[in-house]
Amino acid sequence: MEFKRNIIITGGAGFIGSHVVRLFVNKYPEYRIINLDKLTYAGNLANLKDVEDKENYAFVKADICDYETVKELMEKYNIDGIIHLAAESHVDRSIKDPFTFARTNVIGTLTLLQAAKEYWESLPEGYEGKRFYHISTDEVYGALELTNPEGIESPFTTKASSEHHHAYGTEFFTEETKYNPHSPYSASKASSDHFVRAFHDTYGMPTIVTNCSNNYGPYQFPEKLIPLFINNIRHRKPLPVYGKGENVRDWLYVEDHARAIDLIFHKGKIADTYNIGGFNEWKNIDIIKVVIKTVDRLLGRKEGEDMDLITYVTDRKGHDMRYAIDSRKLQRELGWEPSLQFEEGIEKTVRWYLDNQAWMDNVTSGDYQMYYDEMYKNR
Ligand code: NAD
Ligand code: DAU
Repeated sequence: MEFKRNIIITGGAGFIGSHVVRLFVNKYPEYRIINLDKLTYAGNLANLKDVEDKENYAFVKADICDYETVKELMEKYNIDGIIHLAAESHVDRSIKDPFTFARTNVIGTLTLLQAAKEYWESLPEGYEGKRFYHISTDEVYGALELTNPEGIESPFTTKASSEHHHAYGTEFFTEETKYNPHSPYSASKASSDHFVRAFHDTYGMPTIVTNCSNNYGPYQFPEKLIPLFINNIRHRKPLPVYGKGENVRDWLYVEDHARAIDLIFHKGKIADTYNIGGFNEWKNIDIIKVVIKTVDRLLGRKEGEDMDLITYVTDRKGHDMRYAIDSRKLQRELGWEPSLQFEEGIEKTVRWYLDNQAWMDNVTSGDYQMYYDEMYKNR
């Protein structure tokens, strides 16, 4: 079958990647989607059960650092677009093992760029109609100060703004904010962003970079705050709150991020950068209380009875105090804004983890790693 476009999505077995793959495979049957993923601990093919048999979907187990394999895939499938999400993504792991982050996030991104460059430059039409879209994070901008610890009314409203509509400072990350990464994770992402822009400026590759805030929703690996805490509350295990729980993050429902990626892949300006955020700042401790009450209510427990699971622990080293994205450029230029109020999003999320306990048990027991052998080895 001839496909209109042939797109590699890297990291498609991970949290955000699986939502992007699902959206593209279902929305664009005329595109062939190649999910290129190494299946590290964070990759789980069970996240994509509902699309794995679709005609326009293929999975390839490979490392983005493997130049020959990436180049071969580009030629084999005549790839004209790359949406790059594969990365080591957990800040705490980067503090313990920075080398893995430099390898995957920096060398892996450079490998993809170089393979795309060699392939696209070998074609008669060159870079015409091609796209290299790199998914990055707001953490590259560093940390903002908590100048209003009690919260002030946020200057940004969207149709999804919730009753809790606070900003915890007057500064926000814009596309012009200077890079100032603090953790090995954010330093590696910043470095990869620079390589992507360098490939545009040096070789004319049609690149786009977006920097997004904290995502939440189904299929997130339970090392990250929200799924870890939902699972711990369910099993009445302690909830390790770093420091005083005062740190602020800007939360976005993962499907809203996937929608933004779709829009920007198709309509974004080449060589441009867009910040993507939820216009939705929360202090960790406040979000944790909302999660506890929601889990309790949905499990038929007395709402709030698990508050005593909150356990303050030693702070994360170099813990960034506040992230807050100004994503008005994306709103203004491409008409995107979050679709879900945080209260709706968190209810949906908690419900999903409680309804999909088998998914969670497979991940926490390690059984999910057998899924590739069972489903793909002999295909
Ligand atoms: P994740 O850790 O859930 O998934 C990462 C995926 O990449 C996994 O499937 C893993 O197997 C794969 N991978 C890792 N190393 C690889 C390699 N060497 N070769 C091929 N595949 C490899 O990550 P996520 O939270 O879904 O994040 C996806 C991307 O979005 C990352 O680039 C991250 O920096 C960025 N991001 C994440 C968030 C967030 O809140 N989670 C916010 C903004 C940006
Ligand atoms: O801002 C975007 C980033 O968001 C992404 O680039 C990262 O890939 C993603 O992991 C996320 O980074 P954070 O460090 O903000 O997410 P995490 O879920 O690890 O932590 C959220 C906040 O909760 C942070 O302030 C640390 C705190 N925390 C986290 C864990 C896991 C706790 O207090 N206790 C915990 O056990």
